[in-house]
Amino acid sequence: MTSPREDLNRLISGFWMTQAIYVVVRLRIPDLLAAGPRTADELASESDSHPRSLYRLLRALSSNCVFHEDTDHRFSLTPLSECLRRDGPASMAGLAWMRGDWQYRAWGDLLHNVQTGETAFNHVFGEPLFDFLRHTPENAAIFDQGMVGVHSRETEAMLAAFDFSDIDVLADIGGGNGSVLAAVLTKNSTLKAILFDRADVIDRAKANLAQTGVADRVQFIAGDFFHSVPSGADAYFLRHIIHDWNDDQSRTILKNCRDAMPRNGRLLIAEFVLPDGPEPFHGKWFDLAMMTVTGGQERTDSEYRKLLDECGFAWRRVVPTATELSVIVALTR
Ligand SMILES: C[S@@+](CC[C@H](N)C(=O)[O-])C[C@H]1O[C@@H](n2cnc3c(N)ncnc32)[C@H](O)[C@@H]1O
Repeated sequence: MTSPREDLNRLISGFWMTQAIYVVVRLRIPDLLAAGPRTADELASESDSHPRSLYRLLRALSSNCVFHEDTDHRFSLTPLSECLRRDGPASMAGLAWMRGDWQYRAWGDLLHNVQTGETAFNHVFGEPLFDFLRHTPENAAIFDQGMVGVHSRETEAMLAAFDFSDIDVLADIGGGNGSVLAAVLTKNSTLKAILFDRADVIDRAKANLAQTGVADRVQFIAGDFFHSVPSGADAYFLRHIIHDWNDDQSRTILKNCRDAMPRNGRLLIAEFVLPDGPEPFHGKWFDLAMMTVTGGQERTDSEYRKLLDECGFAWRRVVPTATELSVIVALTR
């Protein structure tokens, strides 16, 4: 049994863990431990860090099972830190990096965001997130990996709950590095696809999909969804796109999709649909992440219905999945 004060103390100190995990990822400690147990001195010389400080960091993280410390003070990987290796298929290293780096700095400005309504990231960095990513390619690659780390469980759940098999050509709008599309194409062997994103992202997606065996069914198209999206698909899929933007921006993206779509074309929006009530729902925290980092928001079912109606779509149904992700299905009117 813990007391309210202890529970609160843990909540108040949450940033300790964010930064501790971020620093071991930056120093590549989980990758260095892949070869077997090491002392902090050995790890410090391989990661160019201060031995005693690194020891104290690893000792603290080991007390939360992020690493294991043996009686000779050698550290090894645990199931948690295995996921922080950069080379794993659904590595969480990119997520730990982006949360501890630019998102951490934006959240440090939450007070300003709440007092003024200005997106904290824009206030701190002087530009919106996706502009920042465009001219810092090292961060953009981390962001792509972060998306896979944070959302990969949702992909499996979506494929179990939603049937893509009656679609001929699927356009993945803002499809990032193509990891979601690769999973959809692997499960649906006759499906063809368009992957649409910004030019720098498309270059990374081509390299990523080259290793999957599905790239020959994908047409890669670079562009800006605030100007237009490509035609040529019967279904348009937007996962975690609309939540990045405010209502005006979302209407522009959705109207551009509608203009590109055939009559009775299908729009599939995969997002966390917020409950109207006060029940616990992790998407309520994603909503804050959107508020501080991109200026977007998570929405309730009725907010999505209104947005779709305003953009010329007829709402059809919401398909829940085993995670908090749902697929909203709408048709062009
Ligand atoms: C939150 S990520 C989602 C990525 C992917 N759909 C997923 O679920 O993992 C948003 C994506 O939108 C893309 N994006 C942002 N602005 C864009 C624009 N103006 N035109 C096209 N894509 C854009 C980003 O590059 C990024 O890949």
